[in-house]
Amino acid sequence: MIDFSKIPSPCYVLEDSLLRKNLELMQYVQQQADIEIICALKGFSMYSTFPLVKQYLAGSTASSLHEARLGFEEMGSKAHVYSPAYLESEFDELMSYSSNITFNSLKQLEKFGATARANGISCGVRINPQYSEVETDMYNPCIAGSRLGMTRDALGQRLPEGVEGLHSHTLCENDSFTLERTLNAIEERFGDLLPQVKWLNLGGGHLMTKEGYNIEHLIGLLRNLKKRYPNLAIIMEPGSAVGWKTGYLTSTVLDIVDAQGIDVAILDMSFAAHLPDTLEMPYKPKILGAYHEPVEGKPTYRFGGMTCLAGDFYGDYSFDKPLQIGDSIVFDDMIHYTMVKTTTFNGVGLPSIGIWRENETFELIKSFGYESFKDRL
Ligand SMILES: Cc1ncc(COP(=O)(O)O)c(C=O)c1O
Repeated sequence: MIDFSKIPSPCYVLEDSLLRKNLELMQYVQQQADIEIICALKGFSMYSTFPLVKQYLAGSTASSLHEARLGFEEMGSKAHVYSPAYLESEFDELMSYSSNITFNSLKQLEKFGATARANGISCGVRINPQYSEVETDMYNPCIAGSRLGMTRDALGQRLPEGVEGLHSHTLCENDSFTLERTLNAIEERFGDLLPQVKWLNLGGGHLMTKEGYNIEHLIGLLRNLKKRYPNLAIIMEPGSAVGWKTGYLTSTVLDIVDAQGIDVAILDMSFAAHLPDTLEMPYKPKILGAYHEPVEGKPTYRFGGMTCLAGDFYGDYSFDKPLQIGDSIVFDDMIHYTMVKTTTFNGVGLPSIGIWRENETFELIKSFGYESFKDRL
């Protein structure tokens, strides 16, 4: 049982037993379906855990030079890379960290493909199967006019010389049944190209570690896909699923104000700076020990961040007992994406980062001060 009194505030704290559970499940999928699962660093890049992650996953996928370098240096393997466009000034260095590079357009392929191939890198192109069940446009790569990936008409009957892979990413926190319908769309539009390539990267958004995800259905789907295209190495690159429900953000009540009849607890954190995806998506984060929706008759609070942004709050939540200044408020499931997107908006100090170890001790990995704020400016 995690002992929050041993953990600083605010702090992102990961429980390594929970991460291991996710990784074990992913390893099972890899073995049963004969595929490779790599970790999307854009969603989970807490590299202090990579010694554990690399025992289970096949590597990492990166969307920038810095992520590719992090994967190479900390995961110890060359990364699969995809970016909508590459910088000429960075490409040589990027190649030194990459095993596979996916290009978003034929122009990008023409510009960089030959050099990449000459450096032993397997090249692919990103396709847009024009099928996605993602309801939030912000996360839907198939919206009209999407710049991400090529529609079928942008590719000819034969893939350009040297293209060895296709990459498709159209899922976000989806289940295997959505993947099944997505595979149908890929085969309908790009099926004739699949025998021409060596690998198919099915992107991220496969939330296989979420309770209720039908793992056996996923395995069956992937095995059937392999039967239809025995030439294909199949790769999945989830980020969320790696860090799903593996940890928390701790915080402390600094003040409680009566804001025109609403009790607002001000915390030593900020939704805008530390949990930006809650405002961007948006979604109401879970708080341990709180009723997620207000309950009539119970003490009810709105939580405000310590910036001066009017919209930097979430609520309302109810509790069995009234809150006191100094109480600890723990946000659940704050490891994937949240930590990656943290900023020092308004000069707010960054949360520390730590791990609650399987032997019931807390290890502080990092804390941040003025230099971390200044370094980004
Ligand atoms: C190309 C690509 N691959 C993988 C991912 C990881 O997705 P998720 O964290 O939802 O599994 C993303 C997320 O945006 C992505 O754009």
